[in-house]
Amino acid sequence: MSVILKFNCIVGVNFHHPIRNFNRLCSISQSLFDPQRKEPPGPRPLPVIGNLLQLAPSPHVALCELSKKYGPVFTFNLGPQRTVVLAGHKTIKEALVSSDAFSERDTNPIIHDLKLTYGIVFANGDTWREMRHFALTNMRDFGMGRKACEEKILQESQWLINLIKEKNGKAFDTAQPVNHAVCNIICSIVYGNRFEYDDPVFVSMVQRATKNTKLMGSASVQLYNFFPKLFSWVGARKQLMESAFINRKCMKELIKSLQSTLNPHMCRGLVDSFLARKIQLEASGNLNSHYCEDNLLVTVVNLFTAGTDTTSTTIRYGLLLMAKNPKIQDQVQEELNRVIGSRQVQAQDRKNLPYTDAVIHEIQRMANTVPTTVRRTSRDVTFRGYFIRKGTPVLVLLASALQDEDEWETPHTFNPAHFLDKEGNFRKRDAFLPFSAGSRVCTGESLARMELFLFLTSLLQHFHFTPPPGLKEDDLDLSQNGGFTLTPKPHELCAISRV
Ligand code: HEM
Repeated sequence: MSVILKFNCIVGVNFHHPIRNFNRLCSISQSLFDPQRKEPPGPRPLPVIGNLLQLAPSPHVALCELSKKYGPVFTFNLGPQRTVVLAGHKTIKEALVSSDAFSERDTNPIIHDLKLTYGIVFANGDTWREMRHFALTNMRDFGMGRKACEEKILQESQWLINLIKEKNGKAFDTAQPVNHAVCNIICSIVYGNRFEYDDPVFVSMVQRATKNTKLMGSASVQLYNFFPKLFSWVGARKQLMESAFINRKCMKELIKSLQSTLNPHMCRGLVDSFLARKIQLEASGNLNSHYCEDNLLVTVVNLFTAGTDTTSTTIRYGLLLMAKNPKIQDQVQEELNRVIGSRQVQAQDRKNLPYTDAVIHEIQRMANTVPTTVRRTSRDVTFRGYFIRKGTPVLVLLASALQDEDEWETPHTFNPAHFLDKEGNFRKRDAFLPFSAGSRVCTGESLARMELFLFLTSLLQHFHFTPPPGLKEDDLDLSQNGGFTLTPKPHELCAISRV
């Protein structure tokens, strides 16, 4: 049962909702009398547990299999919660890009307990619109898409390279060094400064973020989400509440120290910018604004949680794939030697590195870091001939696009040729949707793309990655742990210096 309940990706499902149950009854009775209101097909649910038993051993793989039987739009009961699943890149794009009915985020009891309905990720309506716009504008100013961002990532790559050099080619776990480097990029954008890797405040901040993401996706917290009245006592929920409380306290202290040295005309990062805007709005008599403490804290939490684990997991999976496929690693390094030589790589080099670019895209396709995302219908909608009532949770199966058997030549094996044309030029693919699509597409897409390119190329310029002594390439395990994000199983690699 615990394996089954490890359906960790279901960020926002709450079946314990009397209004939804009432709507569901109305919907069934209306569809009985109105043949136009055809509901999506799906497997028959069992009482209470619904179709949960059908999710083992891997929820996104099981749902991809079910879509072969029931089609790209089908119904699935997560416990008693009826959910509509969207599969295949054409269906996903049609729903998320061409329709405005699927842009709300569904929430669940733990999200409400943690007051996460502020900010961006789990917010809806005006709060979401304002905070998303604010974050996008400021991430552009303090990071994304700008030369400043490139410099920050390149500097951080150098710190990471120095740390890995200290391992002297001995086997090490890539998790902490890569997590710290990636988290520092968010720190620079949000707070305006990076931390030393051994700074105790920083180390515990990263540890807490990783722990909280794990707890949020744990089987017992999911059980609480399904049955909040019965399972509010579970240990993981208590630990999560405590850890989130400490996190807020720590962030409040960092924000307080920024506030005491704030110069609204020279913002150091996103927090300064938020505080400056708040002062400006208050001065103009606007008291009913979104620029309140809760929105600041949750936006900052959102950027750390959405922007650290996802990117560092993809980089680590990439290094693992390189160690497992030495010929492909050699080809990347040959291209880097030929085009860049020993100088530092830059973002604009990407266009001259088609093979490397294809490898990085293929790493993202195989890593499948965010296999599902959860939305909710904002109105009654008829989609592809099926009637879906307002407020229905919608599970968008991004994994089904990245591993679509009709789209990719070898969907389940690492094959950079997926992103190359016959002449060896880079080619885009429509089914490549790791950041999702539409109005709620990943806010950090440009930043993440730049980080993946600069961190991976810098590391591969300096090191050749191999399995630890005693292990062969075939012994490296590519299987992943489930959660909000899919992460590689704990492993070690050797980084042999090339320079
Ligand atoms: C490889 C790295 C990353 C991947 C694969 C990824 C993927 C995703 C996906 C699939 C979503 C859900 C979109 C939807 O609901 O349709 C998302 C949302 C989001 N991501 Fe990312 N992400 C990555 C990196 C980042 C970074 C670096 C940041 C910011 C610093 C970030 C910030 C966000 C935010 C704020 C949202 C919520 C957007 C909203 O609800 O409007 N992500 N991401």
